[in-house]
Amino acid sequence: MVELYPSLLAADQKNLIQMAQKLEAHCPGFHIDIMDNKFVPNRGISVENANDVAKVTVKPSWVHLMVENPQEYINILQVKPGSIVTFHIESHKDTRGLISEIIEKKWKPGIAVNPKTGIDEIFPFLDSLHQVLIMSVEPGFAGQEFVPSVVEKIAPLVGFRATKKLDFKIAMDGGIQEKNIRMLCQKQIDQIVLGTALFDTEVGAAKALEFYTKIVSAMSRTHGE
Ligand code: DX5
Ligand code: ZN
Repeated sequence: MVELYPSLLAADQKNLIQMAQKLEAHCPGFHIDIMDNKFVPNRGISVENANDVAKVTVKPSWVHLMVENPQEYINILQVKPGSIVTFHIESHKDTRGLISEIIEKKWKPGIAVNPKTGIDEIFPFLDSLHQVLIMSVEPGFAGQEFVPSVVEKIAPLVGFRATKKLDFKIAMDGGIQEKNIRMLCQKQIDQIVLGTALFDTEVGAAKALEFYTKIVSAMSRTHGE
């Protein structure tokens, strides 16, 4: 079944810890957006807050580094073993070196690709990755409109994974909500990030998460998983 990760960037930052504790039994962990106001024009969740969330929750985290220098952040992150740490291919750092360091820290490495970046750039690294993150909005802000053209990036990854017998996950982040989530489930996405769809609703995040969980669960039954 598709895994749904709540994106804490879209939550009320004053009640991050309480919200994380409330939702964690119903998700595989939290997607935590860290930004440096350089790689993207915004500041996300601080490393300190990311470390605090990891301390008060039981599940591994999923840290999404939207920063020019991922290395700096990897050095000071304190998240649980088994957490996913995703950095952007566009940060143009030593990709192999970063992957090795993430693995040495007992985390799972992921690489993110912006909407305008071709997926070909990450093929050389797929054999050592836990995850490829296809960005479906320009990174930086929650609440943006889904970019439909990125859906074309999924099929080549699914094909490559099958041909090479690899087992990396295919993830998507940005603008995902009721009107596009079923289509993504049909395209064999493994991990989905939900920000505004959960945290900007009248019913509240817990009910919204339950609603989306029902959708992905029904989709997985339809597809005979
Ligand atoms: C965008 C972030 C996303 C964002 C998702 O740069 O990486 O994780 O918080 O929020 P929505 O689902 O509202 O696009
Ligand atoms: Zn993100």
